[in-house]
Amino acid sequence: MSSDKITPAAILAMKSRGEKIAALTAYDFPMARMLDEAGVPLLLVGDSVGMVVLGYPDTTHVTMAEMEHHVRAAARANTRALLGADLPYHSYETAAEAVANSQRLIAAGASYVKAEGGREILPQVQAILAAGIPFCGHLGMLPQHVLEEGGYKIKGRQEAEHQKLLDDARALATAGAFAIVLELVTPPVAQEITQAIPVPTIGIGSGSDCDGQILVTHDLVGMFPWFTPKFVKPSVHCGAEIKTAVLNWKTLLGAKS
Ligand code: KIV
Repeated sequence: MSSDKITPAAILAMKSRGEKIAALTAYDFPMARMLDEAGVPLLLVGDSVGMVVLGYPDTTHVTMAEMEHHVRAAARANTRALLGADLPYHSYETAAEAVANSQRLIAAGASYVKAEGGREILPQVQAILAAGIPFCGHLGMLPQHVLEEGGYKIKGRQEAEHQKLLDDARALATAGAFAIVLELVTPPVAQEITQAIPVPTIGIGSGSDCDGQILVTHDLVGMFPWFTPKFVKPSVHCGAEIKTAVLNWKTLLGAKS
């Protein structure tokens, strides 16, 4: 494995080689460093930080200042992996706002930004790319719209939704996105999009035929034991391990409750 920093072009090239792309979230220095040492090429300071670290009920509460704080922490790990960040809810309403907030995340240490939506945010995506900032798309279930949508619903079942996803993916790819996250998209539609566009699709709860997979690391390692999405099978249960370690230590101390 070369020690060169991973670039958006390197992620794109993985698709042409048929190499599966592993992607995970990292919100701080130790996690970014551990995932980098494990050779994960693509990292995201996701706005899921709001739910699994900051205790919000959904991602709509996350602010730019909170994202910058976590991007700075993760970026201090100086990873070989390509580390990017989510533009939080309402931070990319206009093209000018999208560029200004993307520049803030880049200044904090991100190497790319991600935003949720298809052709409805195309002017913002084009402006971000025109400012020289690598962009990752996010289609399917859009967590920043969970309140309007009334839940985390699977996308692509209806023909109109299927066609919209395909057209949005083509539009983002044509605009120059280097990858597109597909969240909770029906596996056949995710597979069709993957075959239809030249840029990698990174699935989450969208079946195994995407070019890569992304998970919230806390879900993968059981660090948020109160909720685990159906499509994640944690192979360690860090939350339970922490509780056991603390209980053992208390027993050794002779400490009561
Ligand atoms: O916020 C996030 O962590 C994400 C991914 C899991 C795709 O958007």
